[in-house]
Amino acid sequence: MKRILILGGTTEARQLAGKLAARADLAITLSLAGRTENPVTQGVPTRVGGFGGAEGLAAYFGEAGMHLLIDATHPYAGRISANAAQAARNTGVPIIALRRPGWESVRGDRWIPVDNVAGAVEALGASPRRVFLALGRQEVAAFEAAPQHHYLIRSVEPVEPRLAVHDATYLLARGPFREADERTLLESHSIDTVVSKNSGGEATYGKIAAARALGIEVIVIRRPTLPDVPSAETVEALAAMVDHFLEPDAERGV
Ligand SMILES: NC(=O)c1ccc[n+]([C@@H]2O[C@H](COP(=O)([O-])OP(=O)(O)OC[C@H]3O[C@@H](n4cnc5c(N)ncnc54)[C@H](OP(=O)(O)O)[C@@H]3O)[C@@H](O)[C@H]2O)c1
Repeated sequence: MKRILILGGTTEARQLAGKLAARADLAITLSLAGRTENPVTQGVPTRVGGFGGAEGLAAYFGEAGMHLLIDATHPYAGRISANAAQAARNTGVPIIALRRPGWESVRGDRWIPVDNVAGAVEALGASPRRVFLALGRQEVAAFEAAPQHHYLIRSVEPVEPRLAVHDATYLLARGPFREADERTLLESHSIDTVVSKNSGGEATYGKIAAARALGIEVIVIRRPTLPDVPSAETVEALAAMVDHFLEPDAERGV
């Protein structure tokens, strides 16, 4: 029996865990950070909470006797991906990663790329705008620095405390979001600017397509740099890599 730890928090991680758990020769543990109070049922053995940095993660591998680490975290979860790569290096446990490709801008897109959330706040400028924030609840607090804008804030968990701005509307929703619904949302709130990560995938692309159709600017926060480890772009391709990385080093030609 080979033991695999999947670092998750994404739909793909859940799908990958389900696919691998169906194999009788693999024991899968899915790890979640514990940010969401009511996470979607994962359907495989799951542990919740941080490990205590790269060292804690390495210690966990040892205790649990892991044979393979899979980083299937969100492309903006840069810290856990860095910790995973370092813990794998330090322990010799092989690592592979699911790296969902980012979206590419196409004709008609009005993207303004920025490096981080602070850059997005700055890019809004001085004049009041009507802004749709499609970001995690941890990130929206930075927009208190620009209280002149109206904000429509959508999150999975309630934003508490509320932002110290004059004018904000809160929506609770969990994707996927269809383009037609996103268009209705942007129009009904007279949104003129969207702030988004470049998450990639289809589940949250609707707002990008809707903004393009409406000629609305999208401030796109660039992806963090992630460690260079063997990776695949889809659940199927990554699942197909597993056996190779479970082979002893010598057979793998390492
Ligand atoms: N960032 C996003 O936009 C985004 C979007 C959707 C889903 N998510 C998911 O939400 C989680 C947290 O994201 P983040 O951006 O806050 O991560 P992060 O900044 O990279 O990680 C912060 C810390 O959270 C803990 N952690 C993160 N992912 C974990 C996991 N899968 N299992 C156990 N501990 C984990 C680690 O704590 P220790 O150092 O103590 O181990 C890590 O150092 C991730 O699982 C990610 O896949 C993130």
